[in-house]
Amino acid sequence: MFLLTKMVAACFVVSFASADSGEPKIKPFQFTSYLNLGMRESVHCAVVYGDPPFEFSWFKDGQLLTGILDTSVRKTDDFTSNLVISKVDANSNGNYTCKVSNSKGFDEMSAILAPNWKISVRMNFLWIATVLSLVIIFVSSGPGEPKIKSFHFSNELELGMRETVHCNVLYGDTPLEFSWFKDGQRLTDGQDISIGKTDDYGSRLVISKVNSDSNGNYTCKVSNSKGFDEKSAVLLVKGVCEQSSM
Ligand SMILES: *[C@@H]1O[C@H](CO)[C@@H](O)[C@H](O)[C@H]1NC(C)=O
Repeated sequence: MFLLTKMVAACFVVSFASADSGEPKIKPFQFTSYLNLGMRESVHCAVVYGDPPFEFSWFKDGQLLTGILDTSVRKTDDFTSNLVISKVDANSNGNYTCKVSNSKGFDEMSAILAPNWKISVRMNFLWIATVLSLVIIFVSSGPGEPKIKSFHFSNELELGMRETVHCNVLYGDTPLEFSWFKDGQRLTDGQDISIGKTDDYGSRLVISKVNSDSNGNYTCKVSNSKGFDEKSAVLLVKGVCEQSSM
């Protein structure tokens, strides 16, 4: 019983001694883990005990932080100093230390500014690069100029068959004007030929009965205010081809 009392007394003495020494003790601080480019970060270096007055100093990777661009330090009260990085950028990464000293001694605490933040910078960079290249591709392909999908005639066409081909625009500003040609001659609606728009971006050529005159090189031309595109395909009627080569 006497021993226990002595121990408790000793403990009191020890705890009083450390709290009484007046040496500063800082509360740990941390940086936000999801920091991103351009964000504002603020951490506080707070003294949990010790005798004022205190002197606060901040270091980044061991270098005293003094007026580095976008970084500011201010005392918010006798026991607290606030570090603000107004715009986090690629140079913000590092090991930040707050050092507090008074007449009795000093204490310091450090925190790393998001090590996985470099990944997000890289991700941002990738994202920006992707968007930029898409924009460049779009601009270099001529904004608004029409681009046609190629079309083909069936290679099993026989006399009397019906053939249909579509001229579809992959991209381009409307309104689009469609025209069809056979061996350079403009095609118009006629007995065996019908031409019609399927919608704002497509036109259809129908040959209702393929005959000996149908063989040829067919062209679809699409134009708008920005330019034009054309695609061609050859039609060969089976029997007719053999006849003409004999
Ligand atoms: C950060 O800096 C402090 C003080 O210089 C040092 O004690 C600590 O080891 C450093 N931490 C890392 C992870 O480098």
